[in-house]
Amino acid sequence: MKKKLFLTGATGKLGSILVKFLEKEYKLISVGFKNKPKNGYRLDLTKKDRVINFLNRIKPDIIIHLVAITKVDFCEENFVKAHEINFVTTKNLVDWSENYKVRFIYLSTDQLYDSPKFNNEKDEKPKNFYAMTKYFSEIAALSLKNSLVIRTNFYGYFPTHKDSLVDWFINEIKNKKKISLIKNIFFNPIYVKQLCKYIMILINYKKIKGILNLGAKNKISKGRFLYKLAEELNLDKKNLKFTNVDKINLKAYRPKNMTMSVKRIEKIIKKPMPSIQEGIKYLVNDLKNCNEF
Ligand SMILES: NC(=O)c1ccc[n+]([C@@H]2O[C@H](COP(=O)([O-])OP(=O)(O)OC[C@H]3O[C@@H](n4cnc5c(N)ncnc54)[C@H](OP(=O)(O)O)[C@@H]3O)[C@@H](O)[C@H]2O)c1
Repeated sequence: MKKKLFLTGATGKLGSILVKFLEKEYKLISVGFKNKPKNGYRLDLTKKDRVINFLNRIKPDIIIHLVAITKVDFCEENFVKAHEINFVTTKNLVDWSENYKVRFIYLSTDQLYDSPKFNNEKDEKPKNFYAMTKYFSEIAALSLKNSLVIRTNFYGYFPTHKDSLVDWFINEIKNKKKISLIKNIFFNPIYVKQLCKYIMILINYKKIKGILNLGAKNKISKGRFLYKLAEELNLDKKNLKFTNVDKINLKAYRPKNMTMSVKRIEKIIKKPMPSIQEGIKYLVNDLKNCNEF
């Protein structure tokens, strides 16, 4: 019999892609908030009694929790809302899960890191409000016996979500806007479909608990990443200009180096993580085969 898997944030960027992987292998119960996922439900996860009632009815074997406000500047200026959506939703799910043998997977962020090296899973230094809400949610998730916290940064093309880095970038180029490419923030993001494949493996690896970084094996600056994407997609580069993040007026502090060490995951799966170049090629290939691009 297929295991029951409860997915939150199914209408979000990662959720909308992950659903396609999960529905093949699990009895999937997915929820969104403003939007209803196909074959799923709408549920406000900040309302504890509704969450408890829903989970009591479905009794999932696995919970994957993706809900968050991910806009860093918005979180800085709206910290009550950010706390509610990022932390309270997690705590409500954790409170129910304490009484059941549920596998709990929580998606966290590379924004917890800020040092010029490949940061390992113990190196966290949350320095903006978004990172703080994710950090406290991690602590709640980790209080469960069978939980896994995945720290990551992903990219993809999400036609129904215009707020992702890649979608924004492609639209700005198409609209002939001038774009500042940040040259002094480093990260090692992973293509969303690669991330989904790793999540699929890790759901069943019950021995893998605690915190786990999932990223590319090499690092790159945010600006260079976008420049490479423009090159691979043959997009016009004349409006691209490299700049320093300190010259841009942002509300929240931005870590300069969020690069994640991938040693732990490489040891688990006994093979190297994909490179950034491989991820970009995977994305570009998908875009070229997709009518919406
Ligand atoms: N995006 C990134 O680059 C990135 C990087 C690192 C880590 N992450 C982490 O990955 C996870 C997924 O991120 P994402 O970019 O896919 O997020 P997203 O696109 O912003 O989606 C957020 C989801 O949360 C749902 N939601 C909001 N308020 C809710 C509420 N009160 N009750 C129930 N659901 C609610 C939304 O539902 P509706 O749309 O239906 O309202 C949506 O499905 C997050 O935990 C994030 O912190 C993201």
